[in-house]
Amino acid sequence: MAANRKLLILPGDGIGPEVMRQARRVIEWLDEHRGLSFDVDEGLVGGAAYDATGTPLPDETLEAALASDAVLFGAVGGPKWEGLDFGLRPERALLGLRKELELFANLRPAVVFDALADASTLKRELVAGLDIVIVRELTGGIYFGEPRGIERLADGSRRGVNTEVYTTHEIQRVARVAFELARKRSGLVHSLDKANVLESSELWRQEVQALRDAEYADVELRHMYADNAAMQLVREPKQFDVIVTTNLFGDILSDCAAMLTGSLGMLPSASLGAPDGGGFSRGLYEPVHGTAPDIAGQDAANPLAEILSFAMLLRYSFGMADEADLVERAVEAVLEAGLRTADIMQPEMTRVSTSAMGDAVLRELDKLAA
Ligand code: IPM
Ligand code: MG
Repeated sequence: MAANRKLLILPGDGIGPEVMRQARRVIEWLDEHRGLSFDVDEGLVGGAAYDATGTPLPDETLEAALASDAVLFGAVGGPKWEGLDFGLRPERALLGLRKELELFANLRPAVVFDALADASTLKRELVAGLDIVIVRELTGGIYFGEPRGIERLADGSRRGVNTEVYTTHEIQRVARVAFELARKRSGLVHSLDKANVLESSELWRQEVQALRDAEYADVELRHMYADNAAMQLVREPKQFDVIVTTNLFGDILSDCAAMLTGSLGMLPSASLGAPDGGGFSRGLYEPVHGTAPDIAGQDAANPLAEILSFAMLLRYSFGMADEADLVERAVEAVLEAGLRTADIMQPEMTRVSTSAMGDAVLRELDKLAA
């Protein structure tokens, strides 16, 4: 018998632990009803890890992550740790995990659920049926480029430096993920850059095009400047399907895309390493929303993004498309039934707590499995 798949759970800070609790119930449900036995381990990360051990990414957590098949992540950060040295801040844990696990491709879907189309700040007709995926490069670019730092100049003033740098290899491996994804979707990729001002972007554009011409002639590739793309995303978002872009542009534009859906609390994401035959060898899955310290501990957060992140994990890291579909269908059914946490509350709907939302997802899973 194949060894159990190893799953590491990192709840983190703020609402992380409470939304993770609901995702764990879904994991347990699958174990019980589908006989999926995962080896589930839990670790400390972010501010919680800093408080307990003095570092946001303890060696033990990193080792457990390296030894696991996939990581389900909550969220890290909060006002409590904002005054810390840069290297000790909770966010460093996330950046460290991305780098150490070589998770270079970050998939951020922006999907509008039918039941929530009116929750967007954009007109319903612009966003109804919207389904785009941003593939953000995650281990390169200005986030990691050298030189970096802040230095004191001779006249006593200071100078801060970061470097945007990309190589052929870094560009093509993330572009490949986008092209592969496009083949399973509508066959269209937009690549975003600032090739009009940045050499690193000029290279980005050339290398993405070269890969497309050499291996993905069946995929349509359009290049767009990142600033124009920001405008196009709010003007006519449905012109996009798969978007591939650099670390920094992807960070900014994925927040913009997420907001089109009107419900940050609904969006999962996947950070993936190199594919190995059947699936992605390694992945970290996390909701797009943050730690929401203002509502932490109140049983008010939306657990659906964490649950949908687990569905992505099943799909991409464990190759369990049927189970992923099942979880996603249960979430849709809960929305159709009119249940809403505060963040997606609409007139005439039923407002529920974090744990009641978890109960409802389990009930729908029971129904779907019956
Ligand atoms: C994100 C976040 C992170 C990033 C922060 C928390 C380091 O904004 O995942 O988009 O900038 O990548
Ligand atoms: Mg961000």
